Amino acid sequence: RMVDGTRVFSLTAQEGTTELLPGIETRTWGFDGPYLGPTLRAERGERVAVEVANDLPEATSVHWHGMHLPAAMDGGPHQEVEPGETWRPTWEIDQPAATLWYHPHPHGATEKHVYRGLAGLFLLDDDASAAADLPKEYGVDDVPVVVQDKMLDDDGQLELSDNGSEPGTLGGIVLANGTVGAYHEVTTERVRLRLLNGSTARTYQLGFPDREMDLVATDGGLLDAPVRLKQVRLAPGERAEVVVRMEPGETTRLHSFEADLGGVVVPFAMGGNDAFDVLELRAADSLTPSPEPAWTPSAHADHDTLRESEAAVTREFELDDRHINGRTMDMGRVDEAVTVGDTEIWEVRSIVPMPHTFHVHDVQFRVLSVDGDPPSPELAGPKDTVYLEPNRTYRLLMRFEDYTDADVPYMFHCHMLLHEDEGMMGQFVVV
Ligand code: C2O
Ligand code: CU
Ligand code: CU
Repeated sequence: RMVDGTRVFSLTAQEGTTELLPGIETRTWGFDGPYLGPTLRAERGERVAVEVANDLPEATSVHWHGMHLPAAMDGGPHQEVEPGETWRPTWEIDQPAATLWYHPHPHGATEKHVYRGLAGLFLLDDDASAAADLPKEYGVDDVPVVVQDKMLDDDGQLELSDNGSEPGTLGGIVLANGTVGAYHEVTTERVRLRLLNGSTARTYQLGFPDREMDLVATDGGLLDAPVRLKQVRLAPGERAEVVVRMEPGETTRLHSFEADLGGVVVPFAMGGNDAFDVLELRAADSLTPSPEPAWTPSAHADHDTLRESEAAVTREFELDDRHINGRTMDMGRVDEAVTVGDTEIWEVRSIVPMPHTFHVHDVQFRVLSVDGDPPSPELAGPKDTVYLEPNRTYRLLMRFEDYTDADVPYMFHCHMLLHEDEGMMGQFVVV
């Protein structure tokens, strides 16, 4: 709803039950419903305001993952919402069209809150996305696919196992938008899938057994041009938009193949090689024509204005089993202070053979290189989260444009949520 030129959303975190498996009532959490939350959508240049109410029995928060916004609106561990309270962040959308998402970020309890079902998509539009030849009809040929895995105990209740698996609980049940065995009825020649890995720990290798797909966007928005590929690897928190071509009357399945975790030692990848069907696509007997994906890269696509030669600072981040640069998270300690307007290079490296990722709040970055090599196509667009293959250095280029606040930090962390909760997180301020 619009109020005085501001787009206003409301979200209520609440308890409920969901039939994840037929005939079993599983206790879950959701926003405005028992599981997951509504898809929010806004345009570049709009002011948005959200009323975040908490009907849960404990404190939570809502973080706008991938969003460029003031630190006090970010919804991290410094903006927790107590039970019965309402939090009202507001900001202006000032970044390219993208598939972002929102999820809780309470200190030490993010894994549990996301695992129980608190998450939703936040789609951004701009002139370039509006003019692009891309499937755009939400729910028809532009379809959100939130991929998550679950483990249920003998009573059919969600279980975060304590068996020491790394990088956290890897469940044997895979859901698309909260549904096991999900399908979508396709009525057009092409369908765009907005893929989000909303799992707490599992990395997927998504693709179709019988066709290629066009990768059109990564975490923070459109690529310069579509890239045809077979599979895309998605670690927790990452997004990819792909366009898939269908023939009349046929059926195919989005599948998670054995993920190539890049040199991860086997005990750490327990369950990491399981393969799953995620979403079935069933094409109607006649399909509405859709054009080849194409667009003019937006003149204001922010990532194009990032230049490595302008980088003023290089910072190094080394990850071991639970530390970043030898430290664990301290809410009272600021780890890095960034000067507003600076372009920076962050060199990130995991030195242990277990899966980690690296996520930075407030910005979209460019992957300059991976151990000196150019990034693969799935890392070639704007990113806010990147999977770290062990013992490789990821050089990330980013700029902190505005929103100074010496008192309220943003976070950087591993997005394997057990790791985050156990302290693999640091804080930075923009001053
Ligand atoms: Cu999606 Cu700090 O997280
Ligand atoms: Cu985030
Ligand atoms: Cu990690």
